[in-house]
Amino acid sequence: MPHDQRETPYLDAAMRYRAVGYTPFHTPGHKLGKGAPSRLRDFIGDQALGVDNAMAGGVEDTRESTGLIRLAEDYAAEAWGSDRTWFLVNGSSSGVQALLLALGAPGETVIVPRNAHKSMLAGLIFTGARPLYMEPAIDPVWGIPLQVGAEDARAALREAPDARALFVTSPTYNGLGADLRAIADLAHDAGVPFVTDQAWGPHLRFCPDLPTDAMTAGADAAVVSTHKLISGLTQSAVLMARGERINLARLDGMVHMTQSTSPQVLMYASIDAARQQMAVHGTELWRGAIELAERARRQISAIPGLRCLGSELLGRDGVAEFDPTRLTVSACDVGLSGYQLETVLRDDYRIAVEAADPLNVVLNVTFGDRREDLEMLVGSLQDLAARYGEGAGRGGSAACAGLLAHTPPFTRQVLSPRDAVFAAAAAKPLAECAGEISAEMVTPYPPGIPALGPGEEISPEIVAYLTEAGAAGLKVHGPEDRTLATLRVVVS
Ligand SMILES: Cc1ncc(COP(=O)(O)O)c(C=O)c1O
Repeated sequence: MPHDQRETPYLDAAMRYRAVGYTPFHTPGHKLGKGAPSRLRDFIGDQALGVDNAMAGGVEDTRESTGLIRLAEDYAAEAWGSDRTWFLVNGSSSGVQALLLALGAPGETVIVPRNAHKSMLAGLIFTGARPLYMEPAIDPVWGIPLQVGAEDARAALREAPDARALFVTSPTYNGLGADLRAIADLAHDAGVPFVTDQAWGPHLRFCPDLPTDAMTAGADAAVVSTHKLISGLTQSAVLMARGERINLARLDGMVHMTQSTSPQVLMYASIDAARQQMAVHGTELWRGAIELAERARRQISAIPGLRCLGSELLGRDGVAEFDPTRLTVSACDVGLSGYQLETVLRDDYRIAVEAADPLNVVLNVTFGDRREDLEMLVGSLQDLAARYGEGAGRGGSAACAGLLAHTPPFTRQVLSPRDAVFAAAAAKPLAECAGEISAEMVTPYPPGIPALGPGEEISPEIVAYLTEAGAAGLKVHGPEDRTLATLRVVVS
């Protein structure tokens, strides 16, 4: 008998726990808020503090004997169409890492997209596996990565027929989806498990007007960030897998190695509630969001000097589908970079965007938005374009083009990421690094796609790109010297 998706077993248990009013002799030290500093109470409220405990400290018992978590995860497995799910409290990052730990081993090859999130490289470092990269093209106008195509997957599988898994990141930050069905078939024909990092697609399964979700396409595993586009609290995520090509017991062990041993009741309850909301109301909620986003896209595109990405990239370089709820907006033609647009929207209009890159800002539209929110956004963009419009066409685009956010072509993986991270290394001035092997990861954030990974040969193009990125004030994660004056390189 399938579960009744209107139910929320974990959320209900958390509410019962609060209603009973147990005397807590468990973590955390604020004891359900009684000892909390008043400023914290003012900030998050007694309600939240009153259920802030680790799951074994009340809602479930310390032996997990009620099976409550597994029950809530089973509801989620049915909703997302997998054999098994795990609730994650360390984001999709931890799901990607658990999958790599379960599927790869030191020295083995895992096929991964070059536009993968940095959690994938971290997973490779933990595992010791070697990446074989598939490189999606960068769109020359928008400066964003496109997708991995079936041809890329076919070539990689030919090059590494013994690969332990093939990963694809879909949809991208900008809502571009790969042809997951075709890639799943290719991987399966080669006997290789197919995994999708679907961090930006927790909603896809629940509305037919959105791109195909990984499980429907035949993926063996996927990870979704329930906090990104649905109602999970920040950091919550779900890992899902099928048992045909993946050893679920081994994956279970790896999941537990990547999670805190004190998962938060609030986070678990939010995943349970988000799953219920999607399973019961997902289609209508997302249809409403799609309508709002499409209307806003049309209106923004009509503003002189602004552009809003639509479905025009469909069919280009591996892009098979598009999530219309993601708005990628460029004001380059009125002379504003993506970073400047983010700042102006925040400071002058009190609008907070999801992310900015050198050329664009990205805005998420969900069922949480109201018509007036989108009208306010469009009105603000009209005002902004009129204010800055005088410079339109007078070098604005050229200035932005200089910042084009393309990741330089991948060079050569000389050492595995793990060997490079643990090798003897020394800092060297960036300008002198061409030809060396990087000992660290350099990731402009957002979008969090590594420009340089440990173990890669540093090309003159990467030196030039990082020099430009440093000068443009790009925020980078990973290197010890975040000013990018120096890089750590392997010393032989
Ligand atoms: C494609 C992709 N995968 C994984 C992650 C990590 O997700 P989380 O922040 O839930 O750990 C992100 C975060 O932005 C992402 O964009």
